Amino acid sequence: MSAREPEGLRVLLRRRAIERRVAAMGRQISRELRGRPVHFIAVLKGASIFLADLVREVSLDVSLDFIAVSSYAEGTHSSGQVRLTKDLDSSIEGLDVILVEDILDSGLTMSYLERILLQRRPGSLRIAALLAKRRRRVQPIEVDYVGFRIPNRFVVGYGLDYGERYRNLRDICVLSLAR
Ligand code: IMP
Ligand code: MG
Repeated sequence: MSAREPEGLRVLLRRRAIERRVAAMGRQISRELRGRPVHFIAVLKGASIFLADLVREVSLDVSLDFIAVSSYAEGTHSSGQVRLTKDLDSSIEGLDVILVEDILDSGLTMSYLERILLQRRPGSLRIAALLAKRRRRVQPIEVDYVGFRIPNRFVVGYGLDYGERYRNLRDICVLSLAR
């Protein structure tokens, strides 16, 4: 889907800016983990597009897995509850893992995932988030790689959805829900 601005969508990050930033993140990861195979775990579904672009910018041996949680019921407000809806396919014991998420908001999802992944004894665990909202986290969390810090607005596109819509936008847009 190409960029357009129907009512309620305002471009925040253009595809070129996203491309450049994701490439830089890939180079940084390649540098910092030089010589080691890296196991990427993406949080479905939002991070799938970011993951696909990110790993193609990484010049290391890469393997992939996916995990899914539900945190936002249907809409723009967090239920505050995180539930695992799809587990990993394989063990991460001893592996250098990078957990890939689309956006960090309250921090509840990431801190939940970090906790359950650490219990599985990876060799190391890093976190990469394409976006981080500037608001104060409910759960403080240390992120190793952040693409962009953005205002506390609801955004869609490049994997991010509102009720499953807009994931295929090339740009990241602020969605205004004026009724
Ligand atoms: P957290 O648990 O509050 O940090 O929320 C993280 C999850 O909520 C993300 O993985 C997204 O799925 C969703 N989310 C948070 N903010 C947005 C947004 O602005 N647009 C779309 N999804 C969002
Ligand atoms: Mg998500």
